Amino acid sequence: MTRALVTGGAGFIGSHLVEALLRQGDRVTVLDNLSTGSESNLRAVRAHPALSLHVGSILDEALVDRLTREADMVYHLAAAVGVQWVLQHPLESLRTNVRGTEVVLASAARWRARVLLASTSEVYGKNDAGALDEDADRVLGSTRLSRWNYAAAKGLDESLALAYWAEQRLPVVIVRFFNTIGPRQSGRYGMVVPRFVEQALRNEPLTVYGDGQQTRCFTYVADAVEAVRRLAQCQAAVGEVFNIGQAREITIEALARRVIELTGSRSEIVFVPYEQAYPAGFEDMRRRVPDCTRLRRMIDFAPSTGLDEALAAIIHERRALLGTPH
Ligand SMILES: NC(=O)c1ccc[n+]([C@@H]2O[C@H](COP(=O)([O-])OP(=O)(O)OC[C@H]3O[C@@H](n4cnc5c(N)ncnc54)[C@H](O)[C@@H]3O)[C@@H](O)[C@H]2O)c1
Repeated sequence: MTRALVTGGAGFIGSHLVEALLRQGDRVTVLDNLSTGSESNLRAVRAHPALSLHVGSILDEALVDRLTREADMVYHLAAAVGVQWVLQHPLESLRTNVRGTEVVLASAARWRARVLLASTSEVYGKNDAGALDEDADRVLGSTRLSRWNYAAAKGLDESLALAYWAEQRLPVVIVRFFNTIGPRQSGRYGMVVPRFVEQALRNEPLTVYGDGQQTRCFTYVADAVEAVRRLAQCQAAVGEVFNIGQAREITIEALARRVIELTGSRSEIVFVPYEQAYPAGFEDMRRRVPDCTRLRRMIDFAPSTGLDEALAAIIHERRALLGTPH
């Protein structure tokens, strides 16, 4: 039986991962400070005898060390996440995303636990050249724009993890999630899909930033978690970086229209200039498309859930939460 430690396990992706690990028979310890996550995300498995939840921070070295000592595998997902959250808490975000990861990696190295590190497509920054493979250049804006702090910190996390692998043979696997969506994702910190769904269910205008012609590729959380689960068991994946996503693009305007159709909403679409939605100088990319060849070759897996199916699951969940009729 694998003993897994999941940092950020009460978060959106983390809670789905915890459920999957319990299903495969792991003993799972969650470390989460419940800043953007919540205990209710673990509602379905809270009473599971193989799950224990510790409310605390990855910045607490003694706590991380104690929990890591009892783990064979660490899934490090805890992070300050979300464009709005990171803009509002720049210092705390940097501390969590840089120092917190160092604490986790150092403990894992001390106790010889394997690590799967959650990184992000944000590390590619403004590189919108087309399908991005894992070795594509990173193009980040000025340090004066705190919008890029998240990308810079996550990039540093990856470098740290690879250095631990190179120098101390700490077995690490790095995954870069592209936009991942599904039930339990919060819309509070700027995530577009939950925001649109909640606006549509309330028959409020869907606020599309910019001209809405920027595109994104959305991956369903169950697919992302399945890729993580398989990579964690794959010896050949150690020391490597993997994009996790799928390459079907949709414009943000088309996404808004689809959400309105699927919810049967009376909402309209309102275009909000970036200058009004974000602080001055905010930069965004027109496209961000993953090349997932490496993932497919390594574990013979590609996400299969379509956008409509993913949206339907999210709408179903939000309807129940908001108490709106089906
Ligand atoms: N959702 C996406 O589309 C996406 C895309 C790219 C990367 N990621 C990465 O995936 C991981 C999970 O993200 P998510 O979308 O589930 O977001 P989330 O906010 O739901 O999860 C992050 C979790 O970390 C916890 N946390 C934050 N600071 C902590 C600290 N100091 N100590 C302990 N716990 C702390 C939060 O409470 C939360 O439960 C993150 O590392 C994120 O960078 C997510």
